[in-house]
Amino acid sequence: MAIYFNPETKFFYLEGKNISYVFGINRTGFPEHYYFGTRIGRDDLAYTYEANIGDSAEAAVPGKVHAGGLSYNVYRSEISFFGNGEFRECSIQLLQKSGSRLNEFLYETHEILSEKPALAGMPSMRGGETLKLTLKDKLSEMRVHLFYTVYDDVSVICRRMEVENRTDEDVKLLRAYSFVLDVVGSDHDLLTIENAWAREGKPERTPLPHGIVCVDEKSASSTRRHSPAMALIGKHTTEDFGSALGVNLIYSASYTLKAEVGTKGYTRLTGGINDFDFTWELGAGETFATPEAVLAYSAEGIGGMSREYHDAYRKYLINERFVNKPHPLVINSWEAVYFGCTPDRLIPIIDKVRGTGIDTFVLDDGWFGSRRNDRSGLGDWTVSPEVFPDGLKPVIDYVHDAGMKFGIWFEPEMVNPDSDLYRAHPDWAISVPDTTPCVSRRQVVLDITRADVRDYIVEAVSKILRENEIDYVKWDFNRAVTENFSRALPAGKQQEMHHRYALGLYDLCERLVNGFPHIFFEGCAGGGGRFDPAILYYFPQIWASDDTDAYMRTQIQYGTSLFYPLSAISCHTSICPNHQTERTTPFTTRADIAHLGATGYELDTTKITPEELEEIKTQVAEYRDMEDLVLYGDLYRMENTFDSNYFAVTVVSKDKSKAKVTAMRALCRPNDEHKRIFPRGLDADALYEVKNRDYGLCLHLTGAAIMNVGLVLPLKTAEGKMPGDFKTFVFDIRMER
Ligand code: DGJ
Repeated sequence: MAIYFNPETKFFYLEGKNISYVFGINRTGFPEHYYFGTRIGRDDLAYTYEANIGDSAEAAVPGKVHAGGLSYNVYRSEISFFGNGEFRECSIQLLQKSGSRLNEFLYETHEILSEKPALAGMPSMRGGETLKLTLKDKLSEMRVHLFYTVYDDVSVICRRMEVENRTDEDVKLLRAYSFVLDVVGSDHDLLTIENAWAREGKPERTPLPHGIVCVDEKSASSTRRHSPAMALIGKHTTEDFGSALGVNLIYSASYTLKAEVGTKGYTRLTGGINDFDFTWELGAGETFATPEAVLAYSAEGIGGMSREYHDAYRKYLINERFVNKPHPLVINSWEAVYFGCTPDRLIPIIDKVRGTGIDTFVLDDGWFGSRRNDRSGLGDWTVSPEVFPDGLKPVIDYVHDAGMKFGIWFEPEMVNPDSDLYRAHPDWAISVPDTTPCVSRRQVVLDITRADVRDYIVEAVSKILRENEIDYVKWDFNRAVTENFSRALPAGKQQEMHHRYALGLYDLCERLVNGFPHIFFEGCAGGGGRFDPAILYYFPQIWASDDTDAYMRTQIQYGTSLFYPLSAISCHTSICPNHQTERTTPFTTRADIAHLGATGYELDTTKITPEELEEIKTQVAEYRDMEDLVLYGDLYRMENTFDSNYFAVTVVSKDKSKAKVTAMRALCRPNDEHKRIFPRGLDADALYEVKNRDYGLCLHLTGAAIMNVGLVLPLKTAEGKMPGDFKTFVFDIRMER
């Protein structure tokens, strides 16, 4: 049993693989938080309050503000509301008909559910024993339900909130976050992720000051600037040691996540749907559900936290139909031909990769309507007769005959003003009446909060999927949502727009992804502009960045792996000089780095050398050999090019019998240091064979020696030459006994 309630002390103990989460109901009925961290017993933790302030419940008088004394402002809270002495960030605020924003939610009842209730209309984690805690407003018939889910085999706890209006009046939600958590300590560092186009996934570690530090998105796309993820880590926490407490929202639209260091030695984490430009009318009898937040804890550093997220998402979140199977290994047409995707250019590219092991050809942007560049045609999902006079069938047949699967690109949520769709339905685009819609990449966003617009999209995309033998879809989303205005909503509901956008997106995904269960979907948003757990629920992999430069990719993939498993991170080997950076890196390096994810290729194969073409065969075979590590393995990050001249990671199988170490020296320097890297995660007592393909190396070492003495990166090539910049070193490690 993962969830235990002690009726005498009114303490709840929620237990995951290596974690405990403890809170109790005090004598006034308020749920007070006691602990989240490494697994402990079912101790009575009331002493943690009593030591400093006596009996918290007696000292506290809810409903009164205590100047300098105990009040809601010093509770460690499971829910937090304004107007009763709480001055920290609140998790809920309701505007009632009288104009009052005062509520006081106290324990009413609870249920322990063996089946996790579904979260209607939004993606969430599957399974797990769940506590539903119902709180009643002391001042009205409003209810709040707090949900907590734990799992025996991963160290995460899922949290979300429902607000139920049991009054007979409408209420306006001004804020409804997914969770609040008061963590012991006021001297943590905060880890967040900065994103920008072609520079996604940059980890930022900052000491937290007193006050509030917040990351948010207002663009209805989750990762254009920051990720819906943060971690509270100890001052001395490293990749391998120390405490790391993560928060990640299963949400794709505008969110906020906040860390607030208070004055009493606690740090509050809270967040959910961004309450900037948000209100929600909750009619009498209605319930509002927030997205789910996934909290993870590890005492094994940032790496330990990442591995908890990776396991949790692979087991309980990512589309079950595809998550634990080899992903398609694609050749994508975008960087090969961009919008010039005519059959005469595609066929030679396909011909070249026959027999290499690449198993899927993906036709990217440019195949439909008048879409010969980014100026027109978006939204017109009919095959262009100009480009494909005989339809897609001949190309699809060609691909299938070559033994490959066929994939195709859509950007379902968008429209070019120069398109038949826009000419027919200008009002379907998001815009404020009598104004010109804000254009970006020459396109505007369709108002998918509207059922009629969603119906059009589903039918237009489905028609292509029905009429052609399509195995794979890349779903792109190339700009942010701006005006936050829907012509279909009354004035009082306009600030519901960005959350309704998320709900519209999930409805589209439900209908298209589940309507074509055999099709593998890849997410994309001008690179990694919408890389979040909600998208992973539908699409088992997401294109991490439009930047395919191998050096940049070591950074982008490193940062993305803080929360997301390698199998979810889509990575391609491309041509050099690289199209984003003009940098030239070795062909082998590009593949070695792309192999640390859902790998593929994106280049004009008619322009590479016969040697490189031959090398693709070896690369694909090597990837197939390590694919189980990408799919189910444990990732240990060792070095990163943000603060080192080296990049290095180990990926180890769960049973520790097999591992792959990939390292890269960024810049080659003469007379360089004798660099060692220290793989992690092996069985210290086991004997391993360590091979390196370039140097004909074959060592027999214990796990302890490999991890503690380290592996040496040679200064020269096998031929004795200087290796040049961006040389990778890959070590194959197999247990001998
Ligand atoms: C942005 C994506 O990230 C690219 O891979 C490509 O699909 C283009 N859009 C197509 O317009």
